[in-house]
Amino acid sequence: MMSEMLAVIGGSGLSQLSNLDVSHREVVRTPYGEPSGAVTFGEICGRPIAFLARHGYGHTIPPHEVNYRANIWALCKRGAVGIISVASVGSIRADLKPGDLVIPHQIIDYTWGRKSSFHEGPECTLTHIDFTEPYDNALREQLLSAAGAAGIPVSTVAVYAATQGPRLETAAEINRLERDGADVVGMTGMPEAALAREMAVPYAAISVVANYAAGRADSRQGISFEAIQDVLHESMGHVRTIIEKMVGCGDPNRP
Ligand code: HPA
Repeated sequence: MMSEMLAVIGGSGLSQLSNLDVSHREVVRTPYGEPSGAVTFGEICGRPIAFLARHGYGHTIPPHEVNYRANIWALCKRGAVGIISVASVGSIRADLKPGDLVIPHQIIDYTWGRKSSFHEGPECTLTHIDFTEPYDNALREQLLSAAGAAGIPVSTVAVYAATQGPRLETAAEINRLERDGADVVGMTGMPEAALAREMAVPYAAISVVANYAAGRADSRQGISFEAIQDVLHESMGHVRTIIEKMVGCGDPNRP
């Protein structure tokens, strides 16, 4: 098991990692402006971990205003060898219900107007990253086997639709996303994943189903944001357990 630093970006419902043994916090300066907040450094079961709250520690930054470039740059420059993104999603696929965890394997990007590349400006050479498989396979496998070892069921194949937000979708938009092949919908998966690939740092995601997407099941009459928060609170405990397993907590072979 490698002991290089792993980074976790927490979304709605995960603004801190309560199992993190914190050593220090640092406001990292970047050429792209300010990250969402200070990066928290520490250890979980001896493994170095960096944590960043995507929406800021007071949850004040909406998805379309997150400085994704500064966040990814800060974590990479501080030595992250992998990034786990945790984010809430709405469920489009009928068998995914609130509270379920999903490790998506593909992305469709519907966002617009976000700074989505480190390569810009007159002096930049054009760079086309390969993004056929948007998530890092090895990191996904580690998440899947950690979930398996912890006995936490996760959905292993899902297409993540990244929408612009901050509003939720219309019922017709969700029908369109389904026709496009999407299983879950969230607002923060892009450009985060592409920026990590530009930095050549492995990136994988844990999506927490907070609600049925607009027009589906009990969201037919609308979506209550309060209800979403309650579901998230419960499921984030499972996310913490998966991360603990992944970094080797309880492993007798670890020093
Ligand atoms: N749509 C988009 N993003 C979301 C949703 C949703 O229904 N739920 C949580 N994040």
